[in-house]
Amino acid sequence: MGARKRGPKSEAATTTTTKSPSTETQEKTTAANSTAAEPPIALSKAGQILKVSLIFFVPYLYLIFSHYNIEEELKRSILINAVLSSAAFFVTLAMIPVASKYVLRRNMFGYDINKKGTPQGSIKVPESLGIVVGIVFLVFAILFQHFNFTADSNWLVEYNAALASICFMILLGFVDDVLDVPWRVKLLLPSIAALPLLMAYAGHTTIVIPKPLIPYLGLEVLDLGWVYKLYMWLLAIFCTNSINIHAGLNGLEVGQTVVTSCAILIHNVMQIGVSSDPEYKQAHAFSIYLVQPLLATSLALFSYNWYPSSVFVGDTYTYFAGMTMAVAGILGHFSETLLIFFIPQVLNFLLSLPQLSGFIPCPRHRLPRFEPQTGLLTGTNDGTLVNLFLRQFGRRSEKSLCILLLIFQAIGCCFCFLLRWFLAGWYK
Ligand code: UD1
Ligand code: MG
Repeated sequence: MGARKRGPKSEAATTTTTKSPSTETQEKTTAANSTAAEPPIALSKAGQILKVSLIFFVPYLYLIFSHYNIEEELKRSILINAVLSSAAFFVTLAMIPVASKYVLRRNMFGYDINKKGTPQGSIKVPESLGIVVGIVFLVFAILFQHFNFTADSNWLVEYNAALASICFMILLGFVDDVLDVPWRVKLLLPSIAALPLLMAYAGHTTIVIPKPLIPYLGLEVLDLGWVYKLYMWLLAIFCTNSINIHAGLNGLEVGQTVVTSCAILIHNVMQIGVSSDPEYKQAHAFSIYLVQPLLATSLALFSYNWYPSSVFVGDTYTYFAGMTMAVAGILGHFSETLLIFFIPQVLNFLLSLPQLSGFIPCPRHRLPRFEPQTGLLTGTNDGTLVNLFLRQFGRRSEKSLCILLLIFQAIGCCFCFLLRWFLAGWYK
């Protein structure tokens, strides 16, 4: 974390050694002083965020309750999950200001690089608030199992393996935030976190061959065996890292997750609505059970992270969000669709390849150049979508650039729905 500051080592050491009463009192006073010195974080923008979210919620609820004839039992499970997710939203919203004080006390903060040279650029912004989102998500996802009545116990095995991978990812993300591990190691963390899911996965390892290719291959389904697991593994590594490197603007990390989650949910409901295969429906319902709480907790974080950010999300969040969507795509069996929803991330990854591979030097932060006089950002030569947009569409403010990138993400998702619609019946 380039601009992030850490507490001196001696301070951390005091927590692990036995404290004398005087040290403890001194520590409490220091903590109280530092809390008093730091102003509370700005109020959440939850009202504004929820108003904009209606663009998604209205059609989503319409699809579930009116457009499709989804059976009562499945609808009930989705609804219970939605109610729990709403509770998760409010808990996250309430917990973020509390956790912010604690992370600041531990000197976990960052400076807003795109405001450097202005008074806002010298404010200590609490870091790694993704930890709150991750914990609340896990608590509600675990509680949900109690309410999902299904005869299929295989569901529970996969669900818990998915939660173990997500939990492992949150842990490693937080480790990264605290220890600031080097780039090459960072890229490997999701490969470790994906292991619980890969090892417990007992689902099918076959793929349906696209119809135009059937005459050439002479088969309709192909069993990939361990190659399928390798593909799952690579997908998890890609999703997590690709979100983490498409970042650096207030609201971009959470915004891209929110837009993609909305698209995933709509896709799942549409698939449940048109299918008559119970196993297929169960796979998509599974994905909904993970993505609804992801969306709800992310919206709460978005309320504090939207421009101007009063908290930063940290790698804890980017890894957590990427892993949750990857797991939802893998176990929901729609990984191709997921990759099309990830068009901006794929583009950003391709643009980043020369720097990630070390072919071109990769600085610690590949952000645009900020001009304090005008408040505008200018694109640099670093290979990112953020810089490419600035070079193509001209200098602009951080907020409008972020909105533009999120609109691009939404256009990518709409393109995916259109593509599926055109290819339906012809491709698969
Ligand atoms: C990735 C990117 C890096 C980018 C960074 C921004 C690669 C290889 N790495 O690194 O280029 O600069 O994300 O998150 O592409 N920050 C802001 N404004 C924001 C969000 C973050 O200024 O809206 C700054 C803060 O100083 C914050 C720091 O970025 O402390 C967090 O960076 P971190 O997530 O640790 O960077 P990486 O994920 O390693
Ligand atoms: Mg990051």
